[in-house]
Amino acid sequence: MNFANKNVVITGGTTGIGFATAKAFINAGANVWITGRNTANLEKAAAEINSPNLKTVLSDTSKLDEIAILENSFKESGQKLDILFLNAGIASFAPIEQASEADFDRQFDTNVKGPYFTLQKFIPHLKDGASVVFTSSIVATASNIGTSIYSSTKGALNRVAQIAANELAERKIRVNIVSPGPIQTPGLEGVLPAEAKGHIASLTALQRLGNADEIANAVLFLSSDAASYISGTELVVDGGYLTYGLK
Ligand SMILES: NC(=O)c1ccc[n+]([C@@H]2O[C@H](COP(=O)([O-])OP(=O)(O)OC[C@H]3O[C@@H](n4cnc5c(N)ncnc54)[C@H](OP(=O)(O)O)[C@@H]3O)[C@@H](O)[C@H]2O)c1
Repeated sequence: MNFANKNVVITGGTTGIGFATAKAFINAGANVWITGRNTANLEKAAAEINSPNLKTVLSDTSKLDEIAILENSFKESGQKLDILFLNAGIASFAPIEQASEADFDRQFDTNVKGPYFTLQKFIPHLKDGASVVFTSSIVATASNIGTSIYSSTKGALNRVAQIAANELAERKIRVNIVSPGPIQTPGLEGVLPAEAKGHIASLTALQRLGNADEIANAVLFLSSDAASYISGTELVVDGGYLTYGLK
């Protein structure tokens, strides 16, 4: 796919899915802005991608004043945005009986408030005909024990994305959702004990975890002209996890 001279903003682009997607867009000719909360991670990502077309921005998506830093950094380019990939997200798991208010606020602030207000601030910068992609999760529709907060954030995000698709259609802006299944990333490693990986893989039809490049491929597709009649859709990329559970 060719994204030559397209401008792409990716929240949470230093590791995992966001990083793989940034790399793929850069390889396809785009100019890419990535964010993260950690300077060392941003520097490492920049060194690995090693392209003058990559800009890094220290910006915590859960804080409105830091979303403004990202907006200003993009505004300085004097350009319009072709693709907004709202990907930054965190997860932590606990039964409802034990979940804390801090857990609740942290996940809702990062996974819902962040993408919501990033979208709001970037609407004026989006080109007519631009593409917005949200990273949700299969847990938005699954009901796994211990995931009540994380799953609710992704369920809420799906509603935001689909309403945004309706609100922005007037400007021919397409808004879609990519919902990964279990993907081998630092984020997954942080919440899944190593010994549980085999079990999770066995819950997918394809009997393996996915890799971040497989999600990047889906994001590039949704952002491309090949998806010109796709809006308001959730693209599930899960190795068959959701349907395998029904067998
Ligand atoms: N991996 C999976 O199995 C899976 C499945 C379904 C959905 N997802 C979703 O996919 C997205 C990416 O996850 P991943 O697995 O690739 O995780 P990851 O490897 O932990 O990557 C998360 C990225 O987001 C950044 N980030 C986290 N909190 C942030 C914040 N408040 N502000 C700005 N950046 C922030 C991280 O950088 P810093 O830590 O340096 O800030 C990092 O660049 C998330 O929305 C996640 O919910 C993942």
